[in-house]
Amino acid sequence: MSEISPLQAARAAYAPKLPAVLKACGPFATAKLGAPTQSVADQEQIKKLFADTYGLPAIEFVAGEKKATKAIKAGVILSGGQAPGGHNVIAGLFDGLKALNPDNQLLGFLGGPSGLIDGKYIELTADVIDAYRNTGGFDMICSGRTKLETPEQFAKVADNCAKTGVTAIIIIGGDDSNTNACTLAQYLIEKKTGIQVIGCPKTIDGDLKNEWIEVSFGFDTATKVYSELIGNIMRDANSARKYWHFIKLMGRSASHIALECALQTHPTACLISEEVAKNKTSLREIVTKLTDLVVARADRKMNFGVVLIPEGLVEFIPEIKVLIAELNDQLANRQAEFEALPDMAAKIAFVSGILTPASKEAFASLPSGIQAQLLGDRDPHGNVQVSRIETEKLLIAMIEARLKGINAQREKPVKFSTQAHFFGYEGRCAAPSNFDADYCYSLGYTAATLVGAGKTGYMSSVRNISRPATEWQAGGIPLTMMMNMEHRHGKDVPVIRKALVDLNGKPFQTFAANRDKWSQDVDFVYPGPIQYFGPTEVCDRTTLTLKLEH
Ligand code: FBP
Repeated sequence: MSEISPLQAARAAYAPKLPAVLKACGPFATAKLGAPTQSVADQEQIKKLFADTYGLPAIEFVAGEKKATKAIKAGVILSGGQAPGGHNVIAGLFDGLKALNPDNQLLGFLGGPSGLIDGKYIELTADVIDAYRNTGGFDMICSGRTKLETPEQFAKVADNCAKTGVTAIIIIGGDDSNTNACTLAQYLIEKKTGIQVIGCPKTIDGDLKNEWIEVSFGFDTATKVYSELIGNIMRDANSARKYWHFIKLMGRSASHIALECALQTHPTACLISEEVAKNKTSLREIVTKLTDLVVARADRKMNFGVVLIPEGLVEFIPEIKVLIAELNDQLANRQAEFEALPDMAAKIAFVSGILTPASKEAFASLPSGIQAQLLGDRDPHGNVQVSRIETEKLLIAMIEARLKGINAQREKPVKFSTQAHFFGYEGRCAAPSNFDADYCYSLGYTAATLVGAGKTGYMSSVRNISRPATEWQAGGIPLTMMMNMEHRHGKDVPVIRKALVDLNGKPFQTFAANRDKWSQDVDFVYPGPIQYFGPTEVCDRTTLTLKLEH
């Protein structure tokens, strides 16, 4: 065993909290069934595609009696980007399965969905699990982004389950991975395999949420790490008073991470992609507004500030959004032709020739580095990899260009020295906060309880989580309930609907009511690092998003 840090050693002893019903009854809680459910939209199409799992009732676990259950073997995968707490989901799952029947076994399929398809796994014994309790990362079994979607892949999964004796699969993933879990559940019912599929809501992005899933795990820890770093930078900016810091934050399309960090730290400016889309703000308008802010502060001798930028911003700027949609469709349809081109210059020229005139103009207005980033590899789900687009540098370059014109007219030129940052990977594998350690363990334990109750096609759900854990409610939500039809990769497909920032919701409204004050002066807040030991108001606080939403 390699050396571990003193914090990891101390943290290994932390006993995560469980919802009261699971604490009292273990995985023998009874599944109380609600009314039949509907998908969030496109009900007829979703019903047709998921004939056996559509309309299942939502489940709430209530008190139940211990009973004998026959031994089973379950398999688990971690899918997609890392999120703090993944190991605790597996630990909760393991403990729940063992409480159901000490002879139950858990296999960890390696490297994400591909492990399930290729039949690569390890047995997760108590020793393995104990070494990873309350740790960050996904390295216990690793993750991957292979898309588990074709009938051939499903057949391989069924075959591997038959070979290993696995009768329940737990998929820990984001919206795309849980969409695939839903399709897999339907397939395995149609093939009469008896194999159950249960999903768990993972992603730092916070965009897998709805009435039943109040937050995806990892969001709490990741935003606390980013807020600590932003606070440190703010203090540096306020000490030296010479730099404007442009900080891009991960989060894919949704701006939940940027919004939460803004609420925690009070930046000079923070862009929210969803607002940009609603107001149809163009790139030029964004740049003009930020430049005006830089000038206004310079006039008050404040040549510094901190600007937060959600990583998905470019996708929401109207002209760029249309451009990206066209690129996605064109590159999906003409992939071979595009990939055969010798270099980036040829690719840029090829693409310019097949875009509509408006998109061609938008594409031409971007620096060549950004053009290349927009043409870069798609992820296996066909998404532009927004984390690779350097929006923070794009904005700096465009503000500099605008300031050149302004400074030519001014007696005293505006100073604009900048630093660009991108925070994403720094937070994805942090040791989970108390909240994520508890929430993840509870999600895993609830998944085991759903398996014990014989359910399939459900997502593990733990609710009322803005309250202390003793008041948390455990249950399951049918995966079909979260689905709608969307245009992806040039065709209409069923997918779990992403939750973007609600501009009428309290988190955004609170931000909007305060941002002018934050932009004019120095109102920075310095949250400091996550605390694992100490007063509960410091160690157990949830995100401001969750607090304001519930
Ligand atoms: P998931 O949706 O898989 O949870 O991904 C989270 C995320 O961190 C995004 O915020 C980011 O855009 C992406 O992963 C980066 O992906 P990669 O790890 O492949 O670079």
